[in-house]
Amino acid sequence: MTVSGKRILLIISGGIAAYKSLDLIRRLRERGAVVRPVMTKAAQEFITPLAVGALSASHVYTELFSREDEQDVGHIRLARDTDLIIVAPASADLMAKMAHGLADDLASTILLATDRPVLVAPAMNPKMWAAAPTTRNVATLSSDGIRFIGPMAGEMAENNEAGLGRMAEPLEIVAAAEALFAGTSSGDRPKPLAGRTAIVTSGPTHEPIDPVRYIANRSSGRQGHAIAAALAKLGADVTLVSGPVAIADPSGVTTVHVERADEMLEAVSGLLPADIAVMVAAVADWRVASSSDQKIKKQPGEAPAPILLTENPDILKTVGHHAQRPGLVVGFAAETQDIEKNGRAKLQRKGADMIVANDVSPETGIMGGVRNSVKIISADGVDAWPDLDKDEVATRLAALIAERLAAKTA
Ligand code: CTP
Repeated sequence: MTVSGKRILLIISGGIAAYKSLDLIRRLRERGAVVRPVMTKAAQEFITPLAVGALSASHVYTELFSREDEQDVGHIRLARDTDLIIVAPASADLMAKMAHGLADDLASTILLATDRPVLVAPAMNPKMWAAAPTTRNVATLSSDGIRFIGPMAGEMAENNEAGLGRMAEPLEIVAAAEALFAGTSSGDRPKPLAGRTAIVTSGPTHEPIDPVRYIANRSSGRQGHAIAAALAKLGADVTLVSGPVAIADPSGVTTVHVERADEMLEAVSGLLPADIAVMVAAVADWRVASSSDQKIKKQPGEAPAPILLTENPDILKTVGHHAQRPGLVVGFAAETQDIEKNGRAKLQRKGADMIVANDVSPETGIMGGVRNSVKIISADGVDAWPDLDKDEVATRLAALIAERLAAKTA
């Protein structure tokens, strides 16, 4: 879905990346969006309202207590009379205000008053991005439903520093806005996955050792659940087969709860045929060869009984080679090394059309966390996506699935 005809409120906060917002305005307008700019005081230290006004062909809003602006549109209308709010660049300070509900200038008041989707493109020094308060604020904003694009890794404009903190490029921000519109398309537009059925697996599996103990992994189910919800938003009839997780069932999706890998396989097989399969679950590779019906007791003076493992069925591989194989089969690859190489091998081995590969090394914080940084591997090559929150990865992936499925069945 494009931004054509969309009303976008662009909030520019203070940071050297504000110069890129001028280009963002151009990119949005050349695609047919109507851009209404708001600038914080700090933003005006970097670029002028004159330039922003000229490029946007709009009045530039800067003051909360401007009698003229309040009589004309007013901050509540600015906050609501729009299809999307983009904050670019979003400074650490403005994000902190958003996370805490502060409203002491026009930008922060609009962000508190709005009921419209908000897309944030952070830009700051890598140390500020990595600082604990910023991490906390990002987590709060993510769980409040705020979408993020970036920040990206690379050279900073200042101090020859490099790291995570550079603002996403204008075209990446435009793409994120488009994906957001695709994910929140209103009921009167045809939804690209209407009439399609999808199976999604999510979460870990628990493999019992005895009635009280099990083998598990760190998967939270966040990514798989978000993908199920995103596919449903595009109109698909989605069944989510979830392992044991601590998060809620997504709305608009039928959720089947299972515990073990063999139960997950049975549930998935029972849902075939389907148009789409997205296997996100972190299925345990092994289960206990003969789990005990009784609690295994310590035997005084004896060494603990060894746990013998046997391999679990591979659900993705089974689906990828099934007689009723879905038209589009997507798998994930959780790797800690050689991500691309291992991802490609899994694409082949598992009979998938697409592998979403991610680095689950502990230092990435991806497994169990709220953000993800993925590479999309398919026969067409590799596409590295920026660091995004898991909802945004889901929205983009659902849009890509709709596109690929349409191309395949055209
Ligand atoms: N998968 C599955 N059933 C399994 C194991 C994995 O359906 N028994 C699926 C996952 O849902 C994911 C993909 O296969 O979509 C890759 O999972 P991953 O854990 O990365 O790979 P494995 O096949 O387990 O290989 P390895 O552990 O050797 O990396």
